[in-house]
Amino acid sequence: MSNPSLLILAGDGIGPEVMAEVQRIIDWFGDKRGLKFDVSEDLVGGAAYDAHGVPLHDDTMAKAQEVDAVLLGAVGGPKYDVLDFSVKPERGLLRLRKEMDLFANLRPAQCFDALADFSSLKKDIVAGLDIMIVRELTSGSYFGEPRGIFTENNERVGINTQRYTESEIDRVARAAFELARKRGGKLCSMEKANVMESGILWRDVVTEVHEADYKDIELSHMYADNGAMQLVRAPKQFDVILTDNLFGDLLSDCAAMLTGSLGMLPSASLGAPMENGRPKALYEPVHGSAPDIAGEGKANPCACILSFAMALRYSFSEGGEADRLEAAVEQVLADGVRTGDLMQADGGTPATTSEMGSAVIAALDASL
Ligand code: NAD
Ligand code: IPM
Ligand code: MN
Repeated sequence: MSNPSLLILAGDGIGPEVMAEVQRIIDWFGDKRGLKFDVSEDLVGGAAYDAHGVPLHDDTMAKAQEVDAVLLGAVGGPKYDVLDFSVKPERGLLRLRKEMDLFANLRPAQCFDALADFSSLKKDIVAGLDIMIVRELTSGSYFGEPRGIFTENNERVGINTQRYTESEIDRVARAAFELARKRGGKLCSMEKANVMESGILWRDVVTEVHEADYKDIELSHMYADNGAMQLVRAPKQFDVILTDNLFGDLLSDCAAMLTGSLGMLPSASLGAPMENGRPKALYEPVHGSAPDIAGEGKANPCACILSFAMALRYSFSEGGEADRLEAAVEQVLADGVRTGDLMQADGGTPATTSEMGSAVIAALDASL
């Protein structure tokens, strides 16, 4: 049988820097655990634009549809700000998500003990935090029609449309309820049913799915603005948070600071099962290309490394190896290895991206 296939799209800015550490870790699993992958690489975002004039080449899109999982670094950067909207780096990522139909974006936020002191919140608010944000990823205001910039009454008007069908809400709700069942048995759904019809439908459908098939899960509903406040007031009240595309984008960046740094947050974007039973999947850190630190070896590779751990768990049914990798990251942090984003200004010399990667590999070696 052939090895499972991975397509690596490192992208822009710190994307290639953090992905280089993941590639060393993929090699480690091949050498030391007999977990071999057929790895191919391609371009996305600004890098693809520079080479092909588009942020995602059709051939790359076709490859992404065929592989067992895609690993993505990050896209974007100031160099591309001047480009037409249709070819901006971010459009490449959005095309991957839409055409692969990756409707369920899992964004776990876990506060490792070693970082509890580093969060911008008080230690007892975040210590032991373990929540999972499930963000709908292929619909809502990111994709709804009509959209565009038009002229009306001699002035410009910018339009995006928040649109959700019943089936789009149903399928992501089921994904979130299934996760809640494997975790703490609680799900909080966030929308703005007080001001948006799409929010009313969201609340109704989530309630119906709950009534029909998930009565064992404790379901609550919250307006998303209150949800943002509750995330910083008392985040440990949550287990799984289910929300739409735009609210999920904001709430997950907010949750990042509960863990100490945006450089810690991984994600899995999952679609329906393929013929081989694996879900269509793309794994990427929640952070972007961090132009302010790109090229300096300062980026924290943990979010990208932990995204690969999610690939081991959700695409390759290697939960034990995913646990091993997550434990290695936790060990490295407990040993005090820190990239600059995890240090106070006077905290000494930070580890470089590759020193952090080496420390994780040393911890993996020690786990054998
Ligand atoms: P960003 O996430 O790139 O950076 C925000 C801040 O967090 C910066 O100060 C950055 O230095 C820091 N940071 C982020 N990741 C880090 C890491 N791994 N280690 C240490 N520090 C880290 O967000 P932004 O500055 O708003 O966006 C920059 C570009 O990235 C934009 O073009 C944006 O569209 C794009 N973006 C891409 C993705 C993605 O590819 N998935 C996600 C978010 C933003
Ligand atoms: C994210 C990013 C993306 C989003 C951008 C880069 C398209 O912010 O993955 O969180 O808005 O979804
Ligand atoms: Mn975002």
